[in-house]
Amino acid sequence: MAQQKRPFVSLDELEAICAEHPTPFYLYDERGIRERAQQLVDAFAWCPGFKEYFAVKATPNPAILSILREYGFGLDCSSECELMLAEALGFRGDEIMFSSNDTPDSEFAYAARLGARVNLDDITHIDAWERAVGEFPSFMSLRFNPGGDFDFTNGIFDSPERAKFGLTEPQMLEAARELSRRGVRELGIHALLASNTVTNEYFPALARLLFGLAVRIQRECGVRVSLVNLSGGVGVAYRPEETPNDIAAIGEGVRRAFEEVLVPAGMGDVDIACELGRFMLAPFAGLVCRVTHEKHTYRDYLGVDACAANLMRPMLYDAYHHITVMGREDAPADHTYDVVGMLCENSDRLATARALPETHVGDLLFIHDVGAHGHSMGYNYNGRLRSAELLLREDGTCDVIRRAERPSDYFATLDVLGVSGRLAELSEEHEAPSGEKSVPRDSPGRRHKPGRP
Ligand SMILES: Cc1ncc(COP(=O)(O)O)c(C=O)c1O
Repeated sequence: MAQQKRPFVSLDELEAICAEHPTPFYLYDERGIRERAQQLVDAFAWCPGFKEYFAVKATPNPAILSILREYGFGLDCSSECELMLAEALGFRGDEIMFSSNDTPDSEFAYAARLGARVNLDDITHIDAWERAVGEFPSFMSLRFNPGGDFDFTNGIFDSPERAKFGLTEPQMLEAARELSRRGVRELGIHALLASNTVTNEYFPALARLLFGLAVRIQRECGVRVSLVNLSGGVGVAYRPEETPNDIAAIGEGVRRAFEEVLVPAGMGDVDIACELGRFMLAPFAGLVCRVTHEKHTYRDYLGVDACAANLMRPMLYDAYHHITVMGREDAPADHTYDVVGMLCENSDRLATARALPETHVGDLLFIHDVGAHGHSMGYNYNGRLRSAELLLREDGTCDVIRRAERPSDYFATLDVLGVSGRLAELSEEHEAPSGEKSVPRDSPGRRHKPGRP
């Protein structure tokens, strides 16, 4: 029996927000984010050295990252710009995990300057680090890829063998010895072997695997393993019929593996880390958009004022995002629609053949679970602009935490062609408050820069 998925705002609250902020926009829920952060902290309270390095790529917004910092979270960064965000927000080196792949030397150098904890994706990155930075820090981490299928009693999670990430087991051992030779005294081991796992078993199974490897490396390679990083991959119930993960059960499963593998090996002082993105944030934002067109041809379409440029996951992965027609939460879903955006791409669908209540132009849609890997995956195809991000505060007020892109943002990088003057003028005209936009082309009220046609 399908569960109900309810937005964290009512129709009236949302219409009040829309009166101030035009659709489409992402709306984040501060209360939900805080509750989730506390649940994670509680679930791993048994491990004094536990730390979540939030995966910045999921939701790279300073307002969100600052909330998470209040819970002792660090940041998992994978690029120069993500490191810049961490630096600008004042995260210390040991609060930053730099987990990247195919890494430019310049980014190793930047991570070194910040004193970030670095997770190498390949054995050749040891030499790359030496080339880029010179000396080695006392701590380094290695990303493990066991190959094959990552499976256990519950079935297959994923196929690491097909993943481009990480070192094989023999490479892990060789790299650990090599790092030790080059002065590294403490090692972290890291793995991300599956994505969006909706089961409480993934982290415990991964922990057992990594703990076993940690024991072997410490015994055989002359370097102390001080950190096991379970990374991301804990999923959320995008579909209403799925049972959400229980982070307390996940924490308890990891604790059992810790007691059974690490403690008997005399390694009960190993710290645990994770880099959860989706689990932390996905449920706590909705993409709010309005139905602008209805089209009835071979199928029934609802055209909305958002598109795949705002939320790419359905186009990219055929991902399911639940949709609530605001105000019709309890109406029977007895119509079938494709919910589409305005891109010139047939795959620009936010939902395909979706059962929804009868819906019309003007209705507000709340697209669920977009708080992670949502806005951050946006792009500009067809000259479409990314939407604003709003944060619904616990006291019911709403802050703009990222403005919507403007035409001038889209054209900014064309300055090299010398076309920016005319485009800048047009941008200014089109960015003017809506009343001015509709001024006819030849009207004397139309704004021109002096000396331009
Ligand atoms: C290195 C690394 N850590 C953490 C994450 C976050 O994963 P998730 O959002 O599934 O928790 C990712 C996702 O791509 C990743 O690449």
